[in-house]
Amino acid sequence: MKIGVIGTGYVGMVTAVCLADLGHDVIGTDIDKEKIDKASQGICHIYEPGLEPLLQKNLEKGNLSFSHDLEETIRASDVLFVCVNTPQREDGSADMCYVESTSRSIAENLNKYKVVVEKSTVPVKTSMWIKRTISLYKKGGGEFDVASNPEFLREGTAVADFMHPDRVIIGVETKRAEDVLVKIYDTFKDKILVTNIDTAELIKHASNSFLALKISYINLMAELCEKTDADVELVAKGMGLDERIGERFLRAGLGYGGSCFPKDVRALIKIGEDLGVDLALLKEVDRINTSRIQSYIAKVKKALWIIKDKKVAVLGLAFKPETDDIRNAPSIALIEELQNEGAFLRLYDPEAMDNMRSITPEDPPKIVYTENPYDAVKDANAVLIVTEWEEFRFIDLPKVKDLMANPIIIDGRNVFDPEEVRNLGFEYYSVGRQ
Ligand code: UGA
Repeated sequence: MKIGVIGTGYVGMVTAVCLADLGHDVIGTDIDKEKIDKASQGICHIYEPGLEPLLQKNLEKGNLSFSHDLEETIRASDVLFVCVNTPQREDGSADMCYVESTSRSIAENLNKYKVVVEKSTVPVKTSMWIKRTISLYKKGGGEFDVASNPEFLREGTAVADFMHPDRVIIGVETKRAEDVLVKIYDTFKDKILVTNIDTAELIKHASNSFLALKISYINLMAELCEKTDADVELVAKGMGLDERIGERFLRAGLGYGGSCFPKDVRALIKIGEDLGVDLALLKEVDRINTSRIQSYIAKVKKALWIIKDKKVAVLGLAFKPETDDIRNAPSIALIEELQNEGAFLRLYDPEAMDNMRSITPEDPPKIVYTENPYDAVKDANAVLIVTEWEEFRFIDLPKVKDLMANPIIIDGRNVFDPEEVRNLGFEYYSVGRQ
């Protein structure tokens, strides 16, 4: 069985490499020639721990290859994983034009039976549209099935998530397609849940929105904690000890960012609107999340009073640790606001500085990117912790204090123990704690 992966962005790249590592014969294709050229040479265009060595290993083994030729990839494959991007449109809905054009290409190159598997995060009913498009545009009598196999990978742990899944959801219409997908995921056979296609598509949306809801919920509790003597870390721990709730995704902070949660919550709201179901609950999840950065900026203003001409160190630019991704990162809105207020910004992140430079170029002395966190905090009037990288958790705090003009930390991710940092002489503000 030959597997084609169409789209080698984040999801596609991980899928192609990991399916090859499971022993399958995989070919990846993308319209971006540079991505394909790099991948063919064993260079990964995204930073994802463990992915590049696995890419190189499977290229060498010979069961993974990359091609510029979409049509040839389609013809050569028995199973096609559609991993093209579905960007957000102005009204919050997902733009399906790449899924549609891919479906047409599949139709035009349907030389033998194929299972077309949708892997991108898509609105419920997308598989039906793929099926209709292929049926409309196919020339001969080529047979095919559509299926939904949503991905649940997290950036930063994607390889481990793929190789040790909590569940593998397979949404199918026919036994023939089910057999093909069950065979592909044979290694994880205890984790497979077979459903119909609409259910599989909705499982993905429902899961992401529920996780986003957990985050907004704990952030709301953090606001209550700040008005009382309660500690949100212990509130989350106490809640999480109840197995029905669970402790994960209850970390208060600057809210969720990235390419998935913000987009997916809005897309589900739009799906609800289209289907006549009022998902006001999720509108509130989104509103709470968007307001996080404002409440953080209020803290910065409370600590510094006037921001103009203050030297502010920002530690962490990525939307979360272990990634270079800054899409929907709280750092973007924060930097913009501090720039407008006239601060001198010194920015540091272990991986995401190149990406941030591309949207906020270096502009000394107003915007300076530094080599390390100590350089960033030099003469600073305040340090803002925006991403919880391990590097910051273990930073030499006495050294930081000596380097700063005013030892003020505004910790958006509760990285430090309040008592410990205050004992070292810092003025310390965090989220949902006194
Ligand atoms: C998320 C899901 O976790 C994956 O299961 C899913 O496959 C993926 O979206 C997707 O749809 O492609 P990801 O966006 O990579 O994965 O990152 P997460 O680790 O889920 O974090 C998302 C955001 O929530 C980050 O900004 C993180 O800082 C924030 N977060 C997470 C919190 O603020 N608090 C928490 O307790 C957990």
